[in-house]
Amino acid sequence: MPFPTTLVESRADLVPLLEVQNIDEIGRKALDNLWSQGYVMYAGLSPEDLEEVTVISNQEDVREYALRDSTERFVNQESGIAWHASKGGRAPFLLKPIKVPAVFGYSWTGFESKPSPEKAQADPELHHFIERYPGTSAFRLDPRARGKHIARLLAIATVSATRALYVPDIEIGLESWASNVRAIGAYKGADAEIVLVRDTMRPTQQSTIWPDGVRPDVRFRWNRMVPEIGDESWASDQETTQRFISLGAQLVRLTNHVRLLEPGEDTPQYINRKGERQRPDTRVFMGFPSPLQLAA
Ligand SMILES: CC(C)(COP(=O)(O)OP(=O)(O)OC[C@H]1O[C@@H](n2cnc3c(N)ncnc32)[C@H](O)[C@@H]1OP(=O)(O)O)[C@@H](O)C(=O)NCCC(=O)NCCS
Repeated sequence: MPFPTTLVESRADLVPLLEVQNIDEIGRKALDNLWSQGYVMYAGLSPEDLEEVTVISNQEDVREYALRDSTERFVNQESGIAWHASKGGRAPFLLKPIKVPAVFGYSWTGFESKPSPEKAQADPELHHFIERYPGTSAFRLDPRARGKHIARLLAIATVSATRALYVPDIEIGLESWASNVRAIGAYKGADAEIVLVRDTMRPTQQSTIWPDGVRPDVRFRWNRMVPEIGDESWASDQETTQRFISLGAQLVRLTNHVRLLEPGEDTPQYINRKGERQRPDTRVFMGFPSPLQLAA
C-alpha cells in the first residue's frame, strides 16, 4: 500500500518532515521557511492529534469549504480511522508551532477517486485531469495560523513530503472553490495554475442567503507548481513530445481536440463541415520549470 492506512500509535511516532532526508529542494525550502516562522510539520496522525483535527474541522471556514471534514471524515476516532484506510490510504500531515504542543493545521494527500466509465465519457477533460494528476490533496489551517502567508508553504511541503515518503513522482492536483479567495491566493502563491473549471453546487453554512443549504459555485482544479505553458504538440506526435521532454520540458496539460488528418494518415476519422478529414487527438501542452518554482 503506497499510502498509509492507519493512525500512528502516539505523538512520539509522528515523523518530523525536517528529518526526512530525500525531500526535494522546493519542499526543503518550504519547511525551512516554516521553521523560520515558528512552525514544524509532521507526517502521520495520532489519536490525540485526531481530536485536535476534529476541533479545527468544525471551524467556520472549514465547514463552509470542506463540510465533509466535520460531518464524515473527522467526526470521531472511528470515522478518522475509516477515513485513513479509505481509497487505498490517505497521508495526513500536521502543522504545529515549535513552542506549543498543539495542532495548528492539517493537510493530506491520497489517490483521487477514478470517475466511472460513464462519468469519464461525459466529462473527458476531468478524466484527463485525474489521469494526469492521480493524487488529491487538502489543506486546512486553524485561525491561529491564518493570515500569515504560510498556506502555500503547507501545500508545497505536503506534496514534496508525499513524494519523499510514499509515492515518488506522483502528480498531485489541488482543488478549490472560486469563492474561496484565500485558498486561491495560497495555490497561486505555490505557483499552481487553474486547469479545469466546472460550474456546480456546493453545501453552504450561509443559511440566511441560501436557505436550502446549497449554493452555486465554481470548482477550480489546479495543477501543482507547474511551469508556464511553452510548447504544444499532439499526443500522437510522440517524436515532437519526446523532443520537448528531452529539452527539459514537463507535461502541463492535456486537452481533447480534433485535428486535421495528415496526408496518408490512416486513423479513425470524420469529415468536418468544410469537407476536411479529421481525427480526435489530445493536445499536449509542455512547459519549462519556472523561476518561481525554484525560488519557493
Ligand atoms: C485556505 C487556507 C488554508 C488558507 O490559509 P490562510 O492563512 O487563510 O491564507 P494565507 O494568509 O496564507 O493567504 C493565502 C493567500 O491568499 C491571499 N489572500 C488572503 N485573503 C485574500 C483576499 N481576501 N483576497 C485576495 N487574496 C487574499 C493572501 O495574500 C495570500 O497570498 P500570499 O501568500 O501570496 O500573500 C485557510 O484559509 C483555511 O484553512 N480555510 C478553510 C479550509 C479551506 O478552505 N481549505 C482549502 C480547500 S482544500
